[in-house]
Order: sequence, then C-alpha cells, then structure tokens
Amino acid sequence: MKAIVVTDQAAGTAGMRLVERPEPQAAINDVVVQVHASGFTWDELTWPSTWTDRLGRDRAPVIPGQELAGVVTALGYGTRGLSVGQRVFGLTDSYRGGTLAEYVAVEARNLAPLPGDVDFTVGASVAMPGLTAWQGLFEHGRLQAGQSVLVHGAAGAVGSIVTQLAREAGAYVIGTGRAVHRQTALDFGAQEFVALENDALEDVAPVDLVFDVFGADIAKRSAGLIRAGGRLVTIAGPTEARPAGGLAIDFVLAPDRAQLGEIVQRVRDGRLWTNIGNIATLDDAVAAFNPTKRISGKTIIRVRP
Ligand SMILES: NC(=O)c1ccc[n+]([C@@H]2O[C@H](COP(=O)([O-])OP(=O)(O)OC[C@H]3O[C@@H](n4cnc5c(N)ncnc54)[C@H](OP(=O)(O)O)[C@@H]3O)[C@@H](O)[C@H]2O)c1
Repeated sequence: MKAIVVTDQAAGTAGMRLVERPEPQAAINDVVVQVHASGFTWDELTWPSTWTDRLGRDRAPVIPGQELAGVVTALGYGTRGLSVGQRVFGLTDSYRGGTLAEYVAVEARNLAPLPGDVDFTVGASVAMPGLTAWQGLFEHGRLQAGQSVLVHGAAGAVGSIVTQLAREAGAYVIGTGRAVHRQTALDFGAQEFVALENDALEDVAPVDLVFDVFGADIAKRSAGLIRAGGRLVTIAGPTEARPAGGLAIDFVLAPDRAQLGEIVQRVRDGRLWTNIGNIATLDDAVAAFNPTKRISGKTIIRVRP
C-alpha cells in the first residue's frame, strides 16, 4: 500500500516521503480500515508518542496521522461492535498513528459509525478537534449555560469547534488569535475577539473558563482572568498557570464512541462546521504539508477519490 513515512524527527514535515509499505494486520479487538480521508495535526511530529511505542521504544520508520474516516475491511480476533463494510471515523492510538496511508489498523473502540450523509473528508476533520473540544468544555471545564469562556486560537481546528459547542451550550464566548483571523472566529460564533498581537489580554472581563491551546505565557496570563471557582483547561501540556481560587487542568483527549456520535449528529444537523483549509491527495500530501504559502485551516488528505 502507499503510505507517508517519516524517519527523522528533526526534519519535521519536510522529511515526509511517499513509499510502499506492507498492509497492516488487525490485532485483537482491532479493525483494519481502508482510509478514505486522513487528518494530521500540524505539530504531531514533535509529540514523543509519534516516535515511540508505549514502552518508550523507537518505532521509526513511522506512518504519521491519527485522524481518519474510511471503511472497515477486516476484523481482528474478538472484535465486536463494528462490521466489514461499515463507514467509520475516529482516531488511532497516538503511539500507533498510521492514517496517512491506504490502510490502517485501529482499535475498534476508537471508532464510531460515520453516517452515509457525512463526507469522509468532514469525518476525518472533526474527530480530533471534536473530542478535544467536548472533553475540555464539558468534562474538564464543567461548562454551564450562562457562563463565559475565553477560547484561545478560536479560528483554529480545535478552537473553532470549542467556540461552536460553547455557544450551543449557552455560554458567552470570547475568542483569541491572530488579528487576521478575527472574522473567522466571529463567523464560528465568538461574540468578542482579542487579537493577541494588538489587544491587551488583561483587558478581558473575568471569565468562568479558559480553554487554552497555546500554554506557556498565554496560559499564565489567562489564569489571572478567571473568576473564583473557575477553571483553566489546557491542551498544550503541563502548565504552571494557576488561577487564584480555581483549578488548572491539562489533559489529552481520550477516545469515546458516544461523544463521536454526539459530534457527528451536530455535523449532520448543520450545527457544527470544521475549518478545512486544504484537501490534497496522498500523492500530493508531502507538498500539502509543506505549503509555499500560508494556509489557514486543517489540511485533509483524501486518500481515495
Ligand atoms: N491535548 C490534546 O488532547 C490535544 C488535542 C488536539 C490538539 N492539541 C494541540 O493543540 C494545539 C492546537 O491545535 P489545533 O489543531 O487547533 O491548531 P491550529 O488549527 O493551528 O489552531 C491554532 C490557532 O491559533 C492561532 N495561533 C497560533 N499561534 C498564535 C499566536 N502566537 N498568536 C495568535 N494566534 C496564534 C493559529 O493561527 P495560524 O493558523 O495563523 O497559525 C490558529 O488559528 C496544537 O499544539 C495541538 O498539538 C492537543
């Protein structure tokens, strides 16, 4: 099968190569999926889990990519809940990856059915941001109607979904990001926007929840904006930021079939949109991940036409 492979962490996406690889086999409770569309988070090649297995052993050469939508072609021993021929979407284990390829082996519990009226491209684009947004807002952030939330990177892949779900839940949303993304963030539903290079973050009125995607200094400065009893939720790794009288929570998304179902239902209803910037074929994927001009939004690889 055709697959994108990386061997050199320092080379980043420029080190991606399109090669022939053996098709994966389904292990216990796995399915093999014929990939129709695949997603890749822009900084995935910097994550330790991209380069090792769960015992810390080097697993290069690596096929990156964790987001997928496709059709089940084989079941592993003992696999229940999905069937051959079924349309599915979701995420691989981050120590496994492998979706930038024609076939990938995935634990069945990481996937959910993809309804026939939702395009594979949309399915691949919504799994990672959707689960991250859902878990950050509702499980870790305990967001309630009437609360206010500061959403960093509100025009980005995760931030745009956070913005839409928070609005649907009845929250007041203040988005942040680059000035150039103001209108995009407002279009996704932010009611105010803070351009981080021009506006003073410290001028934002106190909020109940900060959803952080940047970490470092932005997370620390945001902690000072949180009301007593509020929460700072970050997906940018462990943070020293501590809201006075509140909680700071860093997390990594977990697979959840029921939540994927909630998310895809919103896509079908037209309540949820993903920010897709570019769609490329697997043959053109290396160039698509190394664009000569800046592209806003997520790049999705359409593996099968
Ligand atoms: N812990 C988890 O479970 C988890 C899950 C998913 C993602 N993540 C991480 O979350 C981060 C965000 O992911 P994503 O896919 O949403 O990325 P993304 O699509 O690039 O979104 C980030 C947004 O913030 C903007 N931005 C970046 N740097 C900025 C700066 N210095 N000032 C103002 N705006 C800035 C980006 O604008 P431009 O597009 O113009 O750069 C973009 O609109 C990544 O680091 C990813 O690895 C973690």
